[in-house]
Amino acid sequence: MREIGQVTESYWLRTAPGPSYPALTEDTEVDVAVVGAGMAGLSTAHELARAGLRVAVLEAGRVAAGVTGHTTAKLTAQHTLVYDRLRRTRGPEGARLYARSQSEAIEHAAALVTGLGIDCEWEARDAYTFVRDEERVAEVRAEAEAAREAGLDASFTTGTGLPFPVAGAVRVAGQAQFHPLKYLRALTADLLGRGGRVYENTRVVGLAEGGEPCRLTTAAGHTVTARDVVIATHYPVFDRALLFSRLSPRRELVVAGPLGDGPDPGGMYITPEENTRSVRTAPHGADGRRLLVVTGEHFTPGTGDPEAGFGRLAAWAEKHFPGVALEYAWATQDIDSTDTVPMVGPFHPGARHTYVATGFGGWGLSGGIMAGLLLTALITGEDRPWSELYDPRRVKSVLREAPALLKTQAEVARHFVGDRLRAPGSPEDLAPGEGAVIRSGGRHLAVHRDAEGTLRALSARCTHLGCLVAFNGAEQAWECPCHGSRFDVDGQVIEGPAVRPLEHRDL
Ligand SMILES: Cc1cc2nc3c(=O)[nH]c(=O)nc-3n(C[C@H](O)[C@H](O)[C@H](O)COP(=O)(O)OP(=O)(O)OC[C@H]3O[C@@H](n4cnc5c(N)ncnc54)[C@H](O)[C@@H]3O)c2cc1C
Ligand code: FES
Repeated sequence: MREIGQVTESYWLRTAPGPSYPALTEDTEVDVAVVGAGMAGLSTAHELARAGLRVAVLEAGRVAAGVTGHTTAKLTAQHTLVYDRLRRTRGPEGARLYARSQSEAIEHAAALVTGLGIDCEWEARDAYTFVRDEERVAEVRAEAEAAREAGLDASFTTGTGLPFPVAGAVRVAGQAQFHPLKYLRALTADLLGRGGRVYENTRVVGLAEGGEPCRLTTAAGHTVTARDVVIATHYPVFDRALLFSRLSPRRELVVAGPLGDGPDPGGMYITPEENTRSVRTAPHGADGRRLLVVTGEHFTPGTGDPEAGFGRLAAWAEKHFPGVALEYAWATQDIDSTDTVPMVGPFHPGARHTYVATGFGGWGLSGGIMAGLLLTALITGEDRPWSELYDPRRVKSVLREAPALLKTQAEVARHFVGDRLRAPGSPEDLAPGEGAVIRSGGRHLAVHRDAEGTLRALSARCTHLGCLVAFNGAEQAWECPCHGSRFDVDGQVIEGPAVRPLEHRDL
């Protein structure tokens, strides 16, 4: 294992380097502008182009280098323990629609892989949610029953391919895993072949949707005019419906490396225990070896101790898979919606031509493909039986959501107010690579000392809604606990909802 705390590029990004695409350098006009080139944005753009529309994708960074490039890459309709909850909160029909929509997305991706001849290491696998604690077996049994009722090929079992006994597991047969970058690079090439356009290094900073058509403005000052706009930026930028009050970010760690001589566990596994452990393997090299990928140790961005988390995750992987040579350690984050159902559909109650896809809760690969199909249907005037289930404007579930919503709000308020009251350290105390928020002259400064010993000060106020950022030393980034915006040590936005950098300050 490399030294703990040294974060690497993700395995997916490293093993599928792709072409770069130009930045937008002039004003332009299309039928649909898609903001964000992750699984949700690219799937949507691809479907729209297949439907014959003129599409442009505007990506702040590189194609598929956001959360999608850092995922575990299971494609399954089994989303840990979602069905038992769904049948209680949305009824059996809601659970059935969820299962059908996610399964249809996976079948659609499989058809694209075959139809386009995509070499993306697609492998059919069973998916398991397991528990080791006997007291949680009833939970898993209920999930197996609910998933079966929802239409999945689900069963309760105690037999898995894992190298340790489990107390119980839900097995969903016939799911899949793949290399997400290889899949999306091929999808992007097909999109371009259909006349679609992809712009990298093109951050969208403004949306005008009052009149028709909509107008997007980029950081470089160019305008994109489009009849319809899809916001697929992971956390939505331009939050007209205050979705942020129903979304909470969750950062999670991943370690990976070639398996030793022990057997491949075969399936795709996840447990809600031990702060989540998610396991799969992938092809690794020509000699038939397999790469082990283990995910877990989630925390709210800007809180927690990622270095310690990487250590615990690596120790878990090495204990259960002796001989594994962990070479990769990376982190990424997803967004939970308060009712655990993604928000895919019209952006806000008055929206006629703006759409959003967010809140995937750790399952945005099948969710992103589903979003592509659903949003294309809505934009081309069709419907899907599950459009209401995912509608971001849903109100019925808001009352049911109330306790979770209040918890989210309380958490945000705690960071908004509480963090302002803390003023740790002074700049002189910082060692190279360390950062801290300090109070100076009535202002909060985010101060970082780089490897050469130079101190750099930024405003510690997140440019989204003003919460105080906190330093993540393992990843050398400033993170906002409120809605998960992240900034590099120079203040530039790594991920939103913020779209503007942290301002530089004099120390
Ligand atoms: C550790 C971990 C493991 C996971 N494993 C799985 C799994 O096994 N299976 C599964 O289904 N899901 C999994 N997920 C969830 C899944 O990876 C995500 O839900 C999904 O990748 C999100 O896709 P996206 O397109 O919404 O976001 P992203 O991939 O982040 O794409 C959004 C894009 O928008 C761009 N952007 C942001 N702001 C702007 C702007 N202002 N202008 C222009 N562009 C902008 C970003 O640069 C980014 O490229 C996992 C999540 C985590 C955290
Ligand atoms: S991300 Fe919303 S205030 Fe920082």
